[in-house]
Amino acid sequence: MSVEGVTVITVRSFVLSYISRMDRQEQNDRAEWLLGPSAKCQVVEEVDHPWRLVLLGAPGVGKGTQADLLTRRLRACHLSTGDVFRALSGRAGCDLSPAMKTALEYMRRGDLVPDSTVWDMVRERNGCLHCGGGFILDGFPRTVGQAESLRRLMVNENLELSAVINYVLPVNEIVARLSGRRTCAKCKSVYHVTELPPKVAGRCDRCDVELFQREDDRPESIKVRLEAYDRSTAPLIEFYEKLDLLMPVAASGTPEEICGRTMAALAIRRA
Ligand code: AP5
Repeated sequence: MSVEGVTVITVRSFVLSYISRMDRQEQNDRAEWLLGPSAKCQVVEEVDHPWRLVLLGAPGVGKGTQADLLTRRLRACHLSTGDVFRALSGRAGCDLSPAMKTALEYMRRGDLVPDSTVWDMVRERNGCLHCGGGFILDGFPRTVGQAESLRRLMVNENLELSAVINYVLPVNEIVARLSGRRTCAKCKSVYHVTELPPKVAGRCDRCDVELFQREDDRPESIKVRLEAYDRSTAPLIEFYEKLDLLMPVAASGTPEEICGRTMAALAIRRA
């Protein structure tokens, strides 16, 4: 058989084996990441060759949606910096440090939180980088400074990134996705009013809790976020290209189609 044929079969069996495992397993509750190192995650499955991934892409391109699907297939833990900030914003104001209060103001406007605040938060949770199932970083790094800090930390911890997936979508589709997004206040599941609606309008399929619209999904914040992406995060494409880690993936189509594309690209990387 040709080398090409072998690659196709390898890719297909890789994708199918992960998909068949997907529905048998529960997701990690991410307690340590969301609440800090004093919290303990529910039992995490160890995998032989854990994936350590970064998801890149503009706000609203679908990184969180893909992280959710990939987590179930790869067993890697979904580490979203945005989710940590939102979890903090749900706490009583007196519990928050001045740096965190400032961070939440930046977030509401759609601006990036200062690197030093983000880095303190990630460094405090560096145990999550050793997760036995691997990890999927979503929303971090977001500046070249953060990417440099992550690279140094990974070297010190004797860890390597497996790949950086860059999701690509035209800007008009990104704005439509952000404007229609609704999120579950409890389990953080993400829906879209027309593209991925819940079974009962306005309520989460998993926990029957009311869905809400994120403050930074208002039109004025969306504009600020897209500008911040172009200015600060887009340069990471070149940064990771030079390290031979970048994997561009088209983010059009259904979430399952995009996830299939991502899994196929990962299989080629490991083949
Ligand atoms: P964060 O939470 O990371 O937000 P983001 O990167 O702006 O990304 P989003 O969560 O908005 O979008 P997404 O790409 O995950 O898309 P989703 O899957 O939800 O960060 C929020 C803020 O925190 C930042 O602005 C900043 O202030 C701060 N912050 C966080 N990390 C930071 C850092 N490292 N440094 C500095 N500041 C930081 O999908 C969007 C919608 O589209 C949903 O409704 C979904 O249902 C729908 N959808 C998804 N896929 C599809 C599809 N294939 N077809 C149709 N609809 C789809």
